[in-house]
Amino acid sequence: MNFNALTPEIIVALEAIVGPAHVLTAQRAEATATADAYADYGRDHTEDLYFAPDVVLRPADAEEISQIMRLCHAHRIPVTPRGAGTGLSGGALPIEHGVVLSTERLNKIIQIDERNLQATVEPGVVNEAFQNAVKEVGLFYPPDPASKGSCFLGGNLAHSSGGPKAVKYGTTRDYVLNLQVVLPTGEIIWTAANTLKNSTGYNLTQLMVGSEGTLGIITKVVFRLLPYPQHNILMLVPFRQEAQAAEAVSAVFRAGIIPSGMEFMERIAMEWSARYLGIALTVPDDVRAHLLIELDGQDLDQLYKEAEQVYAVLEGYDVGEILLADTAAQKDELWRIRRNIGNSVKAAVYKEEDTVVPRAELPALLKGVKEISTRYGFQTVCYGHAGDGNLHVNIIRGNLSDEMWNVGLRQPITEIFELCVKLGGTISGEHGIGLVQKGYIGIALAETNLNLMRGIKNVFDPNGILNPGKIF
Ligand code: MLT
Ligand code: ZN
Repeated sequence: MNFNALTPEIIVALEAIVGPAHVLTAQRAEATATADAYADYGRDHTEDLYFAPDVVLRPADAEEISQIMRLCHAHRIPVTPRGAGTGLSGGALPIEHGVVLSTERLNKIIQIDERNLQATVEPGVVNEAFQNAVKEVGLFYPPDPASKGSCFLGGNLAHSSGGPKAVKYGTTRDYVLNLQVVLPTGEIIWTAANTLKNSTGYNLTQLMVGSEGTLGIITKVVFRLLPYPQHNILMLVPFRQEAQAAEAVSAVFRAGIIPSGMEFMERIAMEWSARYLGIALTVPDDVRAHLLIELDGQDLDQLYKEAEQVYAVLEGYDVGEILLADTAAQKDELWRIRRNIGNSVKAAVYKEEDTVVPRAELPALLKGVKEISTRYGFQTVCYGHAGDGNLHVNIIRGNLSDEMWNVGLRQPITEIFELCVKLGGTISGEHGIGLVQKGYIGIALAETNLNLMRGIKNVFDPNGILNPGKIF
């Protein structure tokens, strides 16, 4: 793609749209001692990648974004939309420089419609703030990625983020009814209606969700909500063999139970996270992995009955003493350990693969990953949303040479992804393709599929200015 550089005239025009206070440049950041904060717009949570933006814009609403897009479309200036920067595939990195368009000021919960169990929000609202706001009126927004305390709903929409509750409640895309979107050419559209059903033409809503900011900039979203489940039970189940932990997952579902969380943590994942958090945790020597199983619902007696069924299933496996968390504090601590595995792994240098297979193939995936990593001589830390067959495979830098880290890992990663596809799975369950996985997309998608996607991109964004260089 041939892009043009920003000129002083274009900067002046951008200032006229969003106001000078919301046009950030490296020079201005230098002058106001905010260089570090400015540089953060050039990174996200993906490895240690950095690309310098030429300018950062903080528009207030769809109308301003529309004017920005018209200008950038006309001048062929690349625009990289950005939420909170918690993405794990490099989707928010401004690899062509140009404009970083931050949605941080679009941060309002516009309406919680208690009659219809819906809410209209802007994309810069933090996931957990939204969850808490709807909970106050007895409602439930389930998608809960590990970074829920800081990630924006807009970023969740970009990747259809999941999280532990996805196993029972689905991912972000399952809660979206309607989106207001600014197209790369500047038009503002609504994709659908605020209805639970819609058979009116192509589903542009679902096309936008998961498009990683390449087709449009979401400026409002209408979510459907659920009644808040009043009770939950959380158990931590230690297994003496990793393979058995993976095998037990589908057996629980087969027994008729749909847990609201079913997380796999290999021993070291839990230990690293507890150490990272400063929590004293002693895992018995013979324990190789844990399942963290949560049940939720409106009827506590019913939940205890379900817990008994889970126990009955687990009797068929070599498990240690099951911990039934009985206080809110104990539950919070267990979830805190689970949610911080990613952060603890990041503290070591790592590459993360977001593998996903049909649930019952999880044992085969885990076995294959360990076989590949042993054969190539690197360490992996595996954990993730076992109930979804979604295993986060973290490759640890350890003593790997620069050559192996930068080039040599391509072959084993390819083998891991080929295994996923062979097992009926794919190469990303919830983190997206973004920048770092795009070299592997051909393993999961045929050239015909990719050409259809390129065609769609071209219809929406004929000049290719929006989030260039992502997905394919
Ligand atoms: C998780 O499940 O913990 C996240 O998807 C992965 C991460 O934050 O690294
Ligand atoms: Zn995850």
